[in-house]
Amino acid sequence: MTDENALLAKALARAPLTRAETAALLSVKNPRPLFEAADRVRKAFVGDGVYLRGLIEFSNYCKNDCLYCGIRRSNASARRYRLTPEEIVHTAKKAAGYGYKTVVLQSGEDPWFDADTMADIIRQIKTLDVAVTLSLGEKTREEYAAYRRAGADRYLLRIETTDKALYEKMDPGMSWDNRVRCLCDLKELGYEVGSGSLVGLPGQTTESLADDLLFFKELPVDMAGIGPFIPHPQTPLAGETVQGHFELALKMMALMRLLLPDINIPATTAMETLHPRGRLLALESGANVVMPNVTEGDYRKFYELYPGKICTGDTPDRCRGCIQAKIESIGRTVSPVYGFHGDYLKGKK
Ligand code: 5AD
Ligand code: FES
Repeated sequence: MTDENALLAKALARAPLTRAETAALLSVKNPRPLFEAADRVRKAFVGDGVYLRGLIEFSNYCKNDCLYCGIRRSNASARRYRLTPEEIVHTAKKAAGYGYKTVVLQSGEDPWFDADTMADIIRQIKTLDVAVTLSLGEKTREEYAAYRRAGADRYLLRIETTDKALYEKMDPGMSWDNRVRCLCDLKELGYEVGSGSLVGLPGQTTESLADDLLFFKELPVDMAGIGPFIPHPQTPLAGETVQGHFELALKMMALMRLLLPDINIPATTAMETLHPRGRLLALESGANVVMPNVTEGDYRKFYELYPGKICTGDTPDRCRGCIQAKIESIGRTVSPVYGFHGDYLKGKK
């Protein structure tokens, strides 16, 4: 057995991997066996059903200034928008009407939406018989608790990178420790917690990506989204490359499936920006979730975290049909259940 095969066998047996071993698996020359192993583990632990989450990008105002992000506050050419609470609830109703069992509310860190306003929106959406996932960035424990009391089920907050120095360079004015505090608060408050990383940040190493995986296992997360970094022309990282980011992100995602076999893993939209079959390849390499956009009209293109975002000229209706056809084209099905962590195994008992 080659070293690579021996390491893969070790990961499959779920023997603890060291940082160096994890990094070595992220550097394999031929990732095919890793992708195929992740696909088998996905099938055994979470089945063939794909959970769909309807994503509402309700505000692109952001008080932060992340160097990689197209909606950073210093990007004066970003067209800013903010849906009203009524528009958000209306969009969620439409999402429920399309058959989504989860609505994801995502925005930049926009202080306009205080805890009471958010709680009111969440309460109204919870009457629609959907799970509510929030992705609003860093908040106080009290705010997280208020959203939870209002009925929010899950929270997405990527760590972006576990390299504290790199994080604080990429996200000026933000504290890595506070981000970890947020993730711990969310767990303690009973949320299903999703995290994740950006892959391909300048200065990021495979060792540091290995640390990310070990961090997700340590928390542990219920979900994790891995996305390739795509430089945005109106940011300080405009001159960076995307070379290699797609494959490395796919490897990272596949290895995460081996280390955390039963969690929910999205096939991220950024994957499909870099490859026309990006989300399908992700679904065939460990992923079991897709988050189609249900934001209406021009707002889809104004929520430009990175350039070349897919489906910006489409409608929520078209995306719903398109994604179902794609999922079925690879022999998978759209799952009709809420899709909490462990739902598949519970259903099998
Ligand atoms: N390329 C890819 N993903 C990005 N994100 C932000 N900016 C970029 C970019 N330039 C991701 C971050 C954030 C998520 C909502 O979008 O990881 O957590
Ligand atoms: Fe706001 Fe990154 S600058 S999410």
